[in-house]
Amino acid sequence: MSTTARQFRISPSILSADFSRLGAEVAQVIAGGADWIHFDVMDNHYVPNLTFGPMICHALKPHAKTAAGIAVPIDVHLMVEPVDALAASFAEAGADFISFHPDASPHTHRSIQAIKAAGCKAGLVFNPARGLEVLDWVIDDIDLILIMSVNPGFGGQTFIDTTLRKIEDARKRIEQSGRDIRLEVDGGIKVDNIARVASAGADTFVAGSAIFTQPDYAAVISAMRTELAGAAPARD
Ligand code: DX5
Ligand code: ZN
Repeated sequence: MSTTARQFRISPSILSADFSRLGAEVAQVIAGGADWIHFDVMDNHYVPNLTFGPMICHALKPHAKTAAGIAVPIDVHLMVEPVDALAASFAEAGADFISFHPDASPHTHRSIQAIKAAGCKAGLVFNPARGLEVLDWVIDDIDLILIMSVNPGFGGQTFIDTTLRKIEDARKRIEQSGRDIRLEVDGGIKVDNIARVASAGADTFVAGSAIFTQPDYAAVISAMRTELAGAAPARD
């Protein structure tokens, strides 16, 4: 599918937001044009960092809407092990998408089923050195593929270029599946590389430090959209 036909989404990660005023930050970045809100959930077990739980998701849910009152999807990225109990709690707390790392669940297919049974869209997350083979068995069950372009655990890292090849592979798999699956990339996304990531096949972009370290969120998001508008179509 050419990039022009693809609807792009910017999903700012609140990992880099001001934690002392998260509600206002969510409202401000949505006012700046964010399509989704990305929740980086870390347990200091699966990754060497600790962030926030379902209660924060529940508290922020009322802020995740546009000025016109339209709900903005909460895109939960679980960097946790085990997965299932926390996924259920986030579903109850108002998550719209729940993605997890297949290496963090001994029963990946059952975890996907549980997320969907709870009324959420399900996604799988792939670390930089992990291949996409598991998609051979579950691509028809998921709504989102999240490619990590940094090692999970921290914001502000540098984009790992070898992941571009994996993004291309994931795009091919989605095209072959014939399903409407979002292809999201997470880590090191900036104004100056987002077009290259889109050309590789991504349609949804997590950006934390690129947005929340800037005074004007709307300006950064708009600059990203300008870059996306000029992105060369993915190689078929
Ligand atoms: C890593 C996190 C980060 C974050 C994005 O576990 O998932 O990738 O969302 O961080 P930036 O945009 O600052 O690289
Ligand atoms: Zn993330």
